[in-house]
Amino acid sequence: MTPCMNITALSQRVTQPADNSQTLLNLFRQSDLRTPALVLSRSQISTNYHALRHALPRVSIHYAVKPNIHPVIIDELYHNGSNFDVCSAGEVNEVLKTGIDPATLIHSHPIKSRDEFDKAVSAGIELFVVDNAEEIKKLKHYTNKKLKVLIRYRIKTNTQAVVNLQYKFGCTTDEVLTLAKQIEQTGHQFFGLCFHIGSQCVNNENYIEAIETAHKLIQMLDMEGLNVQLLDIGGGFPIQYIEPVPQIDEFCKPIAEALDRHIRPGIKVISEPGRFISATSVNLITTIVGKSYRDGKIWYYLDDGLYSTFSGIVFDKCQYPVVTANNGEEKLSVLAGPTCDSFDVMYDGLMIPEHNVGDRIMFMATGAYCEVSGSNFNALPRPKYIVID
Ligand SMILES: Cc1ncc(COP(=O)(O)O)c(C=O)c1O
Repeated sequence: MTPCMNITALSQRVTQPADNSQTLLNLFRQSDLRTPALVLSRSQISTNYHALRHALPRVSIHYAVKPNIHPVIIDELYHNGSNFDVCSAGEVNEVLKTGIDPATLIHSHPIKSRDEFDKAVSAGIELFVVDNAEEIKKLKHYTNKKLKVLIRYRIKTNTQAVVNLQYKFGCTTDEVLTLAKQIEQTGHQFFGLCFHIGSQCVNNENYIEAIETAHKLIQMLDMEGLNVQLLDIGGGFPIQYIEPVPQIDEFCKPIAEALDRHIRPGIKVISEPGRFISATSVNLITTIVGKSYRDGKIWYYLDDGLYSTFSGIVFDKCQYPVVTANNGEEKLSVLAGPTCDSFDVMYDGLMIPEHNVGDRIMFMATGAYCEVSGSNFNALPRPKYIVID
């Protein structure tokens, strides 16, 4: 059963007028607000960015734009000194609008079509990732420029991440040496190693194991005269949805220690966080557009659903904390979306006080892998962003 928070509980967390929660609450209560509304807090983006920088002082950040490519997020991060991780020509175009030097980007998609590869090289990207021999063959087409290439390896296929990113990508550690030599044979530069444990990874032991593996690989590559200049530790840093997760400093402390212990100072270390930066910077305000009583439960039909912002429930296996303004006896409830499809149900078995058509319900931490994977099924409108602070 999903716990529900009352808006007064949220108000109690508002400590100063400058706190963005106050603006959020005002919007929630504003009767003429057009919903569904994704409320994006600029200040929360920099707070999250600096929290991760503080937790991993040696590691520079390349924000992975895939969970949320909103221009305000890109702009805010750029002005805070972040770099970016991109995976497609569309992402490259968005990020380059900041004026950032393309040579500072990482293109982290291990398997790209020739067309995507061509566009990325033409745009000026120099740092790429591969995990197989077929991808390395594509490098031979680029003779005008020496590209820097990382090899993505996996440690094991079953990690404790909510979304396993080692299932589809990453070579085995046994393949690394052969692939590194193949990169050098194309005339490009084997530049280093990378891994991505998985998204919303709640177990920092996974990172430590991957860093220990990097250490062994670096020793082996050293003996073959192949110099590792960069280690990319991926993304995956967890945020709190319903279940508590450790504070980011606490979560990262053993990771930072493992880096200091195993990775020599001359090797630059970067990360590609997505969710940790964007998730808590956005909250969703919806309106109840319909209500019915079915099989002993109260059904509420909202103006946003599984085919739009709540697509994260399907693709990202997420449940977002629910906030209501109503008080009173909690009743067994269902929250469904606005489409005609019966699949469009987000929460079944939620205990909340009774609501009426026209009331608002808010969902927290809807800034990562939500709106980006939604559609306008039934030709319904997509939510609009409102940028605060
Ligand atoms: C290559 C790569 N880098 C970074 C990320 C971002 O991961 P997260 O949002 O978990 O930090 C992803 C997520 O899919 C990814 O595939």
